[in-house]
Amino acid sequence: MHQEILTKFNFLKEKQLSIDITRGKPDKDQLDLSNELLDIPIPTSSEDGVDLRNYGEPFGIKEARRLGSELLDAPIENILAGEQSSLLLTYQTVLSNFLFAEPTPWKSLKNPKFICPVPGFDRHFMMLQDFGIEAVPIPLNEDGIDLNAFESLLKQSDDFVGILCVPKHSNPSGDTYSDNNLQEMFRIGSNFSDKFLFLFDHAYLIHDFLPTPKQKPLWEVVTNSKVQDQTVITTSFSKVTFGGGGISFMATAGHSLELIKKVRTTMIICPDKLNQKRHVEFFKDAQGVKDHMQRHAELVRPKFEIAYSYLEKLDEECGNFSRPTGGYFITYSTSKPVASRVVQLCKEMGVLITPAGSTFPKNYDPKDSVIRIAPTYVSKEDLEVAMEVFITAVELAHSEIDI
Ligand SMILES: Cc1ncc(COP(=O)(O)O)c(C=O)c1O
Repeated sequence: MHQEILTKFNFLKEKQLSIDITRGKPDKDQLDLSNELLDIPIPTSSEDGVDLRNYGEPFGIKEARRLGSELLDAPIENILAGEQSSLLLTYQTVLSNFLFAEPTPWKSLKNPKFICPVPGFDRHFMMLQDFGIEAVPIPLNEDGIDLNAFESLLKQSDDFVGILCVPKHSNPSGDTYSDNNLQEMFRIGSNFSDKFLFLFDHAYLIHDFLPTPKQKPLWEVVTNSKVQDQTVITTSFSKVTFGGGGISFMATAGHSLELIKKVRTTMIICPDKLNQKRHVEFFKDAQGVKDHMQRHAELVRPKFEIAYSYLEKLDEECGNFSRPTGGYFITYSTSKPVASRVVQLCKEMGVLITPAGSTFPKNYDPKDSVIRIAPTYVSKEDLEVAMEVFITAVELAHSEIDI
């Protein structure tokens, strides 16, 4: 068996492939869906007469905030429409608490800690690291965080200041939190402290490509749990229109809204209102966005189905994989501690995969098991080849070591 796989490995290696499946980016055909935005005519004023060409409206123009309000199902007074990056809003949220949280800014805490469900998004870990905030992992299950692990961590230390989650189609496992899981998270976290921050990166809010477990609008669960003031939700159009060329939204309330306004007032006079208007003209309303996302789904789904069809060929003994119904990533979890080896073998065959460990704080996956696969940013033909390489690498790494 081992010899057979080795022969396949050598055969693929000789092909001198060069395929990169590290990046969860929209492919060109997806970007083309929004080309109309490039030259869409827009008026010079917002609907309530604000000159879009000048400074003003630091928290976004009314019609963009209304669109955000429809998408996030939160009242418009709780919505801020920002520039092109939700990650920036997330960063600004952490910064605002770091500098100005009451009663104690996080910078004055001896050892501030954040809870991070894993596997997670490497940039979240990098961001927390920038602030010297320790990212403490807890397991992410198919329906949300491990609530027992969450509760027991909060019992162990008063140093925790928040949790950072991707509530739908989590990056990279694609898991979608249940309403019940969120409700319990809010109950436990708010009992711990009414300043404990629930930070949600809703990057994949509208990115379903297959039927997805129903979620109540997050803001509704937040409101029912009375944690609006300690919750911040961010999202963007980076994977709706153009990566780095969309607009972003935030929903929050009370002291969290005041903090973000304070920090943003110093750093940016106003967002790009012209781009906000362009997006509103393009979509009209939330239904327009959802119809557009349907077109994305038609392009993305076949790629995930290709990836699934290859992963299904692997013996269950080698590991298991997530089957997201939306988002941009799949995780493969090896049963033996061979994730790094799999990534290395893929590289030797000419296929680049995100480095093993990068979905954990400090790049440390204690089981060396989780591998992130990003199937969107390659042609279907290249994806087929990359997946053949991937399963060969898994089989080879699995057969190499006996545990
Ligand atoms: C979970 C998650 N959050 C945020 C981002 C980046 O979003 P934005 O471009 O709005 O900053 C990504 C991009 O891959 C992501 O996967």
